This record gives sequence, C-alpha cells and structure tokens, in this order.
Amino acid sequence: MEFNKRIASVKPSLTLALTAKAKAMKAAGEDVCSFGAGEPDFDTPQHIKDAAVKALADGQTKYAPSPGLPALREAIAKKLEKENGMAYKPGQILVSDGAKHSLFNVIMTLCRDGDEVVIPAPFWLSYPEMVNMAGATPVVVQTEEAAGFKLTPEALEAAITPATRALILNSPSNPIGIVYTREELEALAVVLRRHEGVYVIADEIYEKILYDDAEHFSFGALAPDMMERVVTVNGFSKAYSMTGWRLGYFAADEKLVKAVNSLQSHSTSGAVTFAQYGALAALEGPQEVVADMVAAFAQRRRAIMDLIAAIPGVSAVTPMGAFYILPNISSTGLDSVEFAEKLLEEEKVAVVPGQPFGIDTHVRLSYACSMENIEKGLERMARFISKLS
Ligand SMILES: Cc1ncc(COP(=O)(O)O)c(C=O)c1O
Repeated sequence: MEFNKRIASVKPSLTLALTAKAKAMKAAGEDVCSFGAGEPDFDTPQHIKDAAVKALADGQTKYAPSPGLPALREAIAKKLEKENGMAYKPGQILVSDGAKHSLFNVIMTLCRDGDEVVIPAPFWLSYPEMVNMAGATPVVVQTEEAAGFKLTPEALEAAITPATRALILNSPSNPIGIVYTREELEALAVVLRRHEGVYVIADEIYEKILYDDAEHFSFGALAPDMMERVVTVNGFSKAYSMTGWRLGYFAADEKLVKAVNSLQSHSTSGAVTFAQYGALAALEGPQEVVADMVAAFAQRRRAIMDLIAAIPGVSAVTPMGAFYILPNISSTGLDSVEFAEKLLEEEKVAVVPGQPFGIDTHVRLSYACSMENIEKGLERMARFISKLS
C-alpha cells in the first residue's frame, strides 16, 4: 500500500523496540534498571494540579483560542522578558501541545521544498525527522567530542549554503547536556549575521535544569538585531515536570506566528483549556519547586558521573544541564545498538543507543531516576563492560 511519501520516509524509532522489550521484561517481574526516561521522575507540583482542577470545576471545558489563552500568552511574554531578556508581545506567542508540537509546526511552516536545516550532532532525534517531513533536508554537522560537542562558528559557516533556511540550536541539550556560553552564542551570531535569510530555532526546553556555574542565555537576547528570524521554543514538560500535560510554546515574529496559527487552527486547534490554567499557575506560582528538582538531579548527576568515570575505557563529557549523560562506549568494540541490546539482555540495564541521535559510539543514560537505580545499574554496566574486554 502506498502512503504519503514524506510520512513513509520517516524512520521508525530504533529505540522503540528496545524500550518495549525493557518494559515487557519489567512487567514480567524482571529486575530491570532503566535509564531511558526523557522526563523528570517527580510529580507535577500540587499548586499546578490544583489550578487545573479548579479550572475544570469552574467549567473551563470548552475550546480555547487556537493560539492559546490570552492570560497564558501574556504570562509567557512576561516570563520571556523577565527571565530571558527578550521583549515579545503576547501576539508573538503561540501555545501548542508541547514543545515538540511547537517545533513541528514551526518547521512545517518555515521550511520550503529544497531548503536545508543545519542540525549539530549529537541532536535530539526528532529534529531531522521533522525537517524531512517538511520536505526540507537536514544538514547534520558533526561536532567534536574534544571540543565538548559544541558547534563552532567555523563549522557553522561551512555548513551554510544558499539553501539554508534555519539552524536548530538546543541548549541545554538532549542527549549530552551541553550548555552554550554567552561567548559561544555570540560567536555563532556573528556568522549568522552574514547570512540574512537564515532563521535560528532555539530549543530552550531545558533552560532551568543547570549545574555548577552554568548559565542559560537565550539566543534572542544576545542577538536582538536578529529577532525577526529567531524562534524561541520552550514549554512546561521539563521545568515543572508536566510531560503528560502536553503544553509548550514558541515566540517569534508576528508574521510567522500567524502562519503557524493557520496550520494549528486546521489541525489541533488550541491546547487543552484546563491544562493551560495549570501552566499559568506554573509560571505565576512559587519557583522553588524547580530548584528542588534541580537539586535532586544535581546529586544524581554527581553520582552517575563518578560511577561512569570509574569504568575503565569509558568517558563522558560533563553534562552542564538537562538530565542526560552520554558515555563513549567505543572501546568496547560494539556499536551503540549492539551495546544497548546486549546490556539489556545480559545485565537487565536499559540505556538508549546514540545512533538515532547521530552518534553511534555513545549511549544515552537519563539520570531522572532514583539513586538506587543509578548505583545498581552502573554496577551492572561496569560488570558488563569488564566481561567484554
Ligand atoms: C530537546 C527537546 N526538545 C523538545 C522536547 C519536547 O518536549 P515537550 O514535552 O514539551 O513536547 C524534548 C522532549 O524530550 C526534548 O528533549
């Protein structure tokens, strides 16, 4: 049977089969240590849940406007001004069903057939698929592990062609947890200023999950002269542990917001109405809840870094944000998929292969899990690797 070519070309998720296997093993009562989760393991803070429950009780059960509740768009504009130093009007903000949905809608709207989108690798695995679905071509730029896996101005300049439509920048990043410094972002902006038609899609979903002295800088705040071609994407999933609420947003030039709103209004319409009241409470309520979560992640990060460093032949770039670590397992002689499959079979430890993230020599471990899981899982992984050598 023939389907739409663009959709049929989307690669089935390599990690899905592995995740399903790990789940099935767990359900069968096996003692699996899982490092697969891309979400905080904390519950959504109570005041956020209360706000959504109250909205339901108050009858907020009808369609919301397609671009989002006016009060939420206003609160997001205030947040972007206060926390990120960017002056967006509420009309420049569009609320969607998660940051993933915002990214999809933006990429579908922005990209024309034949356009190219520069994506530094390792990347979040959905970016290239979204670009393909839009009929454009992902241009993957390999970054150097020795340079902390960061995109350099030289590599960016070399990747840009007359067909380049956008650069996707993710800081803090999934799957490595790198955080670009102010100077690094400014250096990239110097290159982008030379190429007027190129947009920057800044995925800032992990902005609040930072360690040690890392600071988050919004690309738009550092390059205000480029604001009409900066798209800032963010959401509620990671900072407020609201992954299941499916709420995210982007801020951009009003013309782009209007165009994306046309797509959204004919596909999904406005995001869930009562959930948006929860998001409003997240932005306007106490922010200590975020700090508490980050403090817990910081402890686990320290533990997992030390345990990985103690495994002979395995190393990892120090994550400065998000909740992932990406150890290099190339010394085992296995590629990332073989490594993940064998580790699950032999030691009942579930990790995510780096291959779909554009790095087949590494595996991703999420430390959004208990300390017990970290200690037990890393002990097993060390044993697995020692048996290989
Ligand atoms: C880099 C990155 N961007 C966006 C998202 C999507 O987040 P949301 O839950 O808001 O759709 C994720 C989720 O894993 C992510 O890792």
